[in-house]
Amino acid sequence: MSMQGKKTHEIFEKALKYIPHGVNSNFRYWGDDDTLVIKRGQGAYIWDMDDKRYIDYRLAFGPIILGHAYPAVTERVQQAIEGGTLFAWTTPLEVSVAERICRMTGVDKVRITNTGSEATFHALRIARAYTGREKFVKFEGQYHGMIDYFMFGTASSKESNLGPRDDPRSDPMSLGIPKGISEYVLNLPFNDFEILEKTLAKQGEEIAAVFVEPMLGNVASIMPKPGFLEKIRELCDRYGIVLVFDEVKTGFRIANGGAQEHFGVRADLATYAKSLGNGFPIAAFGGKEEIMMTIQPGKTAHGGTYSGNTAGVAAADATLEILENEPVIETVNARGRALMDGIGEILSEHSIPHVVTGLPAMFGILLGSDEEPREFREYLRSDMDLYEEIGMELIARGIQPDADGREPWFVCYALSEEDVAETLTAFNDAVKAAKK
Ligand SMILES: Cc1ncc(COP(=O)(O)O)c(C=O)c1O
Repeated sequence: MSMQGKKTHEIFEKALKYIPHGVNSNFRYWGDDDTLVIKRGQGAYIWDMDDKRYIDYRLAFGPIILGHAYPAVTERVQQAIEGGTLFAWTTPLEVSVAERICRMTGVDKVRITNTGSEATFHALRIARAYTGREKFVKFEGQYHGMIDYFMFGTASSKESNLGPRDDPRSDPMSLGIPKGISEYVLNLPFNDFEILEKTLAKQGEEIAAVFVEPMLGNVASIMPKPGFLEKIRELCDRYGIVLVFDEVKTGFRIANGGAQEHFGVRADLATYAKSLGNGFPIAAFGGKEEIMMTIQPGKTAHGGTYSGNTAGVAAADATLEILENEPVIETVNARGRALMDGIGEILSEHSIPHVVTGLPAMFGILLGSDEEPREFREYLRSDMDLYEEIGMELIARGIQPDADGREPWFVCYALSEEDVAETLTAFNDAVKAAKK
């Protein structure tokens, strides 16, 4: 059965004619019959072209922390863009957002960009410029954006392409990536203290940066083992390596100060995007004064025509103000916790081995085992087919997580207790149907 109603199908047919696969980002393509066309969103809901309503847990892959079309954000943007959108000069709204980011996250200085990918690749350049080194470490299953340097051993890899665990291969995520640049990246298994320690003991002096998603936001929200982030911090200090927390998913979502606050570990640089603008295109990277001041006109580059555009910064200014003044994170955590507990109980009642991973604001579900997963390879051995079947049954019932279990369930401030109850009822029905 197709996910598309009649009107949705008609428009998608037209999309296929003009846009490769009908989507403007490959991750959105679910097949010619199962890719949706969305008419509008409001609060925790989205509606497709046939007016089918969904409770939205994809939330655009995470950015919608408050809710769709959140009135206070929309109004701030409307008002701001009346006065123009881009001037190639600094605006007071940029200053206000930078001040808020510094206060909330504890970074000394911050630069604003447009997308998470722009934030991560500028962080990489600055780490390289600061250290005078070229290689960097990332972890298997971690995704840092559509930048060639990072696109090895991401969550799109198959286990057979990752190579031996203690000698991982740099598996490219796409054709078109020069083979030579795989030399710059070391992909290590997440949560493995020993492999990290050994690798850095051997090559630490050549490594500019360790990039880490502090929890696996692109692999079902798998959590760091106690002490793992602290270990990375210690080793980065030992070898003079820049520690970069990629907080594109965790920033302004798991705490106002993101993963640095939640886990109590300070990075040297951190990248932000998604929840920063509640769905408007804005991102940022920031960190320690000394490292950020590596940026020097004529010497170490950061730039972008649209960086700090008024729509993005106005959205961020309103979003951060709400995050600082209203119980957003507390509410998101309460709703997310109720979902995690409820889903766990339902799966137990149906005797399906499972682990509900992550944090309430972005959690994942792994089926097929009761053991806490610790790395990407373990996710790949979970029952992904059963998860997808349950996901598709949920979507048929108007509840929309991603059918791909790597993508966490995201929770927004607008989600009500009634929405949670409706979701859990549908979850029980979806499990029954999938088991059949
Ligand atoms: C952790 C992480 N870093 C970077 C990115 C790239 O962000 P963008 O899609 O805004 O370029 C993503 C996107 O999902 C992400 O999850």
